[in-house]
Amino acid sequence: MSARILYGKEFAAQIKESARIEIEKLKNKFHVTPGLAVIIVGENPASQVYVRNKHKSCEELGINSVVVEMAETSTKEELLAKIDELNADKNIHGILVQLPLPDAIKNHSDEILNRIDPLKDVDGFHPMNVGKLVTGSPALVPCTPAGCVEMLNLAGIEIDGKRAVIIGRSNIVGKPMLHLLMAKNATVTVCHSHTKKLAEVTREADILVAAMGKPQFVKADMIKPGAVVIDVGINRIAPKKLVGDVDFDAAAEVASAITPVPGGVGLLTVAMLMKNVVTAVKLQIGV
Ligand code: GUN
Repeated sequence: MSARILYGKEFAAQIKESARIEIEKLKNKFHVTPGLAVIIVGENPASQVYVRNKHKSCEELGINSVVVEMAETSTKEELLAKIDELNADKNIHGILVQLPLPDAIKNHSDEILNRIDPLKDVDGFHPMNVGKLVTGSPALVPCTPAGCVEMLNLAGIEIDGKRAVIIGRSNIVGKPMLHLLMAKNATVTVCHSHTKKLAEVTREADILVAAMGKPQFVKADMIKPGAVVIDVGINRIAPKKLVGDVDFDAAAEVASAITPVPGGVGLLTVAMLMKNVVTAVKLQIGV
């Protein structure tokens, strides 16, 4: 079998187009121009690329984008003060602190992220937004897993009643993905580094999500024939070679549909961020 390849580009374009229409409405009807502030601390090259992409998407869609560049040596207090300032800024509706933070303040990441006003938390990482997702009243939801689920919807792939297996239990992908898929009535298993007989579990999946950050770890014999495979990994294995967490070529012979890396779900993350900015504006102005 040769799988249908789910390119992120076409789905991201659809999500962005509906965000663009919503943004026009916010401007015309409510005289609000959505504003997003992205804070980047230090000079991590991958983060710089991600932040540039977010800025570009904002410009395309008519969101006022502010990139706050802070020195690698910034202290926790300086970062908290900047977040306080943005929390109070009426023209800023979304705030995102690009991760990872520099080593010197990395262990304060939770305290820093928790300082963002939950209504402006377009990453969906604040405990209040995590709690809402878990209890089934989602507000702002992490962009990457939300993008994967949106892509399945747009691709016409049924989730209801399916067995879903997620490899990886991060706060950014694995855990929110569990709740999003469960909310769509999948039966979900989360695997991780301590899971015994991993391949036996993954072979039960109708929908297999790889999000553990190990290059080409998921082999063809770990996939049930006809399964849908979502690869959230981005691993640089050579200066110009990015691969996912799935051994793509072999997996594509077994799966019915699969996302490539690059060109897969990464593009959806930015599109969902744009959608979250719209949601944040609506939450703040009460429409
Ligand atoms: N770094 C990698 N992924 C993400 C993300 O989804 N949000 C933020 N803020 N930083 C990231």
